[in-house]
Amino acid sequence: MAKRETKPINLAVLLSGSGTTLENFIKHIDAGKLDAKIQVVVSSRPKVRGLEIARDAGIETRIVSRKKNPDEREFSRKIDDALNGFPIDLICFAGFMSKYFAHDRYFGKIINIHPALIPMFCGEGYYGHYVHESVLNRGVQVSGCTVHIVDDEYDHGPIVAQRVVPVLEDDTPDTLAARVQAEERRLYPQVIQWFAEGRVRVKCGKVYIEGRSRSSIMPEK
Ligand code: GAR
Repeated sequence: MAKRETKPINLAVLLSGSGTTLENFIKHIDAGKLDAKIQVVVSSRPKVRGLEIARDAGIETRIVSRKKNPDEREFSRKIDDALNGFPIDLICFAGFMSKYFAHDRYFGKIINIHPALIPMFCGEGYYGHYVHESVLNRGVQVSGCTVHIVDDEYDHGPIVAQRVVPVLEDDTPDTLAARVQAEERRLYPQVIQWFAEGRVRVKCGKVYIEGRSRSSIMPEK
């Protein structure tokens, strides 16, 4: 399918940690592979590498401490305040480890990436290495990553796209994480680009991407 003419999609990136996902977005934007502008990065923790990456790239940052806002609703309202005033088309969770009850204006416009094939190995407490350890302990033979639209439950909303990777017999959580992350690095910018091109539709809780081939779920050679 021919690449469409688009205007950059305005992003807010929400994170809580090391920011490798944000770093990957910036790399794709700088390389001209992702038609997006990151308007603001909001972190739920104050001294994380993700904030440094944003600042080094000249992106506006805000901190809304989850620790100082133990009430999830209050925390969510403060996130809304932090986003206020920025033109935002899409909010991307990038290793954001808190629940955010979104303002109505962002309905259907928040996405997350999870390092497993939802609805397996997901939900509260399933993040980072815990996910890969659980996959290995259960003995499943495939894993992968999922981009989904965020709703009020952890790792739950409509699935936008998935990529599959094999689980090998001698895998450790680290080797499996690396294989999954390599797919995350391709999939997440691709999904954002679909949003930028206006190709994403949600109908009856299912996501449809105009012009997508189903064969794209397998890892690239
Ligand atoms: C990513 O691997 C992402 O899939 C995972 O956290 C990592 C973020 O890395 N997200 C979850 O586990 C969500 N349940 P980063 O902080 O370096 O961008």
